Amino acid sequence: MTLLELDRVAAHYGPVQALREVSLTVSEGEIVAVLGANGAGKTTTLRAISGTVSRSGTIELDGKPLRGGPEAAARAGIAHVPEGRGTFVDLTVTENLKLGAYTRRDREVKRDLERIASYFPWMAERGGQRAGTLSGGEQQMLALGRALMSRPRLLLLDEPSLGLAPMVVREFFRTVRELNEKEGLTVLVVEQDARIALSVSSRAYVLEVGRVALSGPSSELRANEAVRRSYLGY
Ligand SMILES: Nc1ncnc2c1ncn2[C@@H]1O[C@H](COP(=O)(O)OP(=O)(O)O)[C@@H](O)[C@H]1O
Ligand SMILES: [Mg+2]
Repeated sequence: MTLLELDRVAAHYGPVQALREVSLTVSEGEIVAVLGANGAGKTTTLRAISGTVSRSGTIELDGKPLRGGPEAAARAGIAHVPEGRGTFVDLTVTENLKLGAYTRRDREVKRDLERIASYFPWMAERGGQRAGTLSGGEQQMLALGRALMSRPRLLLLDEPSLGLAPMVVREFFRTVRELNEKEGLTVLVVEQDARIALSVSSRAYVLEVGRVALSGPSSELRANEAVRRSYLGY
């Protein structure tokens, strides 16, 4: 079943047209990747979905139009882990996690903290540690944990690999995969690292200057050397 559908979405920053025409779908329980060079419009695509940039065209979640800003998107069940993570460095690990659940009841929050700890035991053990003192990889995990605290219908990840060592990136994506398999978590992930994104996703879209240049099953894109060389840079 289609969970998310973008139909000819365009977006501007003042005179700069960041998205020209982006159409894509994400089915429930799927991991979909959006790839493309720097400046292609990947971040703006996620911002359009989470209501943090104004746009034209239609975006539907569960067949219902998504309108309005970030609060409306959050209420509809969209959690956005932005580029650069957006953890609150002066707050503790537990405080950061609880912020992800600010709309929810205490009893559920406790249960979800335990659920998060089952994926990331260190977050419970080091719950009182200031987030600013965590490593880059731990901060990325914490940002993911915080997003999960809202029990999202759709998780948006923006370049989670940025600035992290390859081993840490692999561990991060292994956890995303596990969440997808165990909980049916639906994920739209933006990545410049096409290789890892194609290994974790079932389908992918490649953006070029604000348009979808190419899309298909990740295994097919990965197997096509011409595609890899001209669009994915590896
Ligand atoms: N805040 C902004 N103001 C003006 N132009 C922007 C802003 N953010 C992004 N852009 C421009 O929009 C285009 C798409 O950017 P972005 O979505 O960030 O690409 P990507 O995430 O693929 O690198 C680029 O040309 C970029 O320079
Ligand atoms: Mg970006």
